[in-house]
Amino acid sequence: MKNVNDKIKVYLITGVAGFIGANLAKRILNLQNEKIHIIGIDNLNDYYDVKLKEYRLSELQKFDEFEFIKCDISNKEKIGQIFEKYKPDIVVNLAAQAGVRYKYLPESRNYCRFRNRRNGEQQHPRFSRGNAFCRIAR
Ligand SMILES: NC(=O)c1ccc[n+]([C@@H]2O[C@H](COP(=O)([O-])OP(=O)(O)OC[C@H]3O[C@@H](n4cnc5c(N)ncnc54)[C@H](O)[C@@H]3O)[C@@H](O)[C@H]2O)c1
Repeated sequence: MKNVNDKIKVYLITGVAGFIGANLAKRILNLQNEKIHIIGIDNLNDYYDVKLKEYRLSELQKFDEFEFIKCDISNKEKIGQIFEKYKPDIVVNLAAQAGVRYKYLPESRNYCRFRNRRNGEQQHPRFSRGNAFCRIAR
């Protein structure tokens, strides 16, 4: 009978060059209590300094169990191929545009204004703290 402990657990982590993704990958790589292989995906966008992302990747690439694939998660075909090839056991999706102001500023503002008007809460502190909350609240 096959020893389940011998099975390599395949993780797929998107946004792996990001703050949380890179730290998560490093944590898993350091666990050493199971045989693992981590496929890390990131599009390395320049929302903030790409050098920082490259540094995080260079730290992860010191581990034989880590493999990086530069890919945008919106690329359905490539993502499909990755799933087909690696058949991940665990997928952690952290690829995201951090900072909702960057991409959704007009939409969020409109939404806040709408909510504020509807509730008569123009001065409510919840809405002045940032657009992130407003998007989550929707
Ligand atoms: N950092 C925090 O304190 C925090 C707290 C709560 C939730 N989150 C959420 O966790 C997730 C990750 O946060 P983070 O702080 O690591 O952000 P981050 O910006 O450091 O990392 C996100 C990574 O995703 C990559 N990425 C973005 N769009 C992509 C795409 N289309 N395809 C492939 N890669 C893409 C970026 O290049 C980046 O490296 C986000 O969804 C964020 O909203 C973060």
